[in-house]
Amino acid sequence: MSNNQIRVVTIDGPSGSGKGTLSQMLARHLGYHLLDSGALYRLVALASVKRHVDFAREEFVVPIAQNLNVEFSVEGNSMQILLDGEDVTNAIRQEAIGMGASQVAAHPGVRAALLERQRAFARLPGLIADGRDMGTAVFPESVTKIFLTASAEARAERRFNQLKAKGEIVEMENLVADIRERDERDSKRAVSPLVPAADATIIDSTDMSIEEVFASMLALIKQNS
Ligand code: DC
Repeated sequence: MSNNQIRVVTIDGPSGSGKGTLSQMLARHLGYHLLDSGALYRLVALASVKRHVDFAREEFVVPIAQNLNVEFSVEGNSMQILLDGEDVTNAIRQEAIGMGASQVAAHPGVRAALLERQRAFARLPGLIADGRDMGTAVFPESVTKIFLTASAEARAERRFNQLKAKGEIVEMENLVADIRERDERDSKRAVSPLVPAADATIIDSTDMSIEEVFASMLALIKQNS
């Protein structure tokens, strides 16, 4: 592969599989850019709430996605996300906004509106693209495609610990139910459902540590470069 070619690594998988953490670790390690595509869908959900728009009303949600006024700024090791100039870095991580994101993401018009915005993240030297349809729809030409998964229980436990660390108290049972509901909607939607690309390498992280998953992903990336 020549040096002036942008290397895109796609990491898709269900919520709580560890994609976010691993994508950040890989981007930092390789000096690549990072696309957190879930954040874009979360921003659409949050902007809809702020404008009192029902997630189900595609005709109102699409213009919000088309006109999303968002800025990502990296400060040291952390990323700040501004929506209409307001810092929403933490607000978009709430469970309710994640559920909303999954609902607005099912609208074909919303996905179309966000497509070019996502592709624009691909810049030299490379990009780690984290999402549900990175390898299948947004970057189908990518040479390294990873599908990261884990059991619903393991993912709920990880999410529980993440939320607890942020002071958000949720019931474990509700979390497993929410994860199943979100998996079901993300996998069954008509447009760009959550499925591994035919040429993706599947990694099941249920019984693996973050470090083990990181090492196996890095090995895959190196193999392909
Ligand atoms: O990765 P996340 O939990 O931040 O994503 C929130 C929701 O956004 C997820 O339930 C489905 C949707 N999403 C999507 O449909 N396609 C993507 N590429 C990323 C996220």
